[in-house]
Amino acid sequence: LPILLLNGPNLNTLGLRQPEIYGSDTLADVVDLAERTASELGYGLRAAQTNHEGEMIDWIHEARGQVSGIVINPAGWTHTSVALADALVIPEVPIMEVHISNVHKREAFRHHSYVSPIAAGIIVGYGVRGYEFAIRRLVELISD
Ligand code: DQA
Repeated sequence: LPILLLNGPNLNTLGLRQPEIYGSDTLADVVDLAERTASELGYGLRAAQTNHEGEMIDWIHEARGQVSGIVINPAGWTHTSVALADALVIPEVPIMEVHISNVHKREAFRHHSYVSPIAAGIIVGYGVRGYEFAIRRLVELISD
């Protein structure tokens, strides 16, 4: 089964938005990197981004039985959404949480994550390469 890559709100503007924090790569670059990494490891990739929390939750429900694991950058919902964290346990697959920036050296409200307690692993502050590392780790977890 493929790997599901999910990106949360505002990440469609990657490359334009605060490049000093998030870098100059675009979401298309991220998806390309993720596809190349997954295919190198023998996995297909499905990728989606939304600015609508309910849509994200619907996609996570639909992923049950359809994907072998999920890499997610929940973006702002990381710090606000019990509902997203609750949804992420429904597919019963490993979840890797990615943050492009080092959230721990930023504002205090970014230090808490509702997603981390249900994540198999967390990659923070490696820039967009974090998505590659997350896919590599996810494949280790799902190949066990
Ligand atoms: C982010 C960090 C979040 O605090 C922020 O709201 C984002 C992006 C990151 O990738 O560094 O939108 O998840």
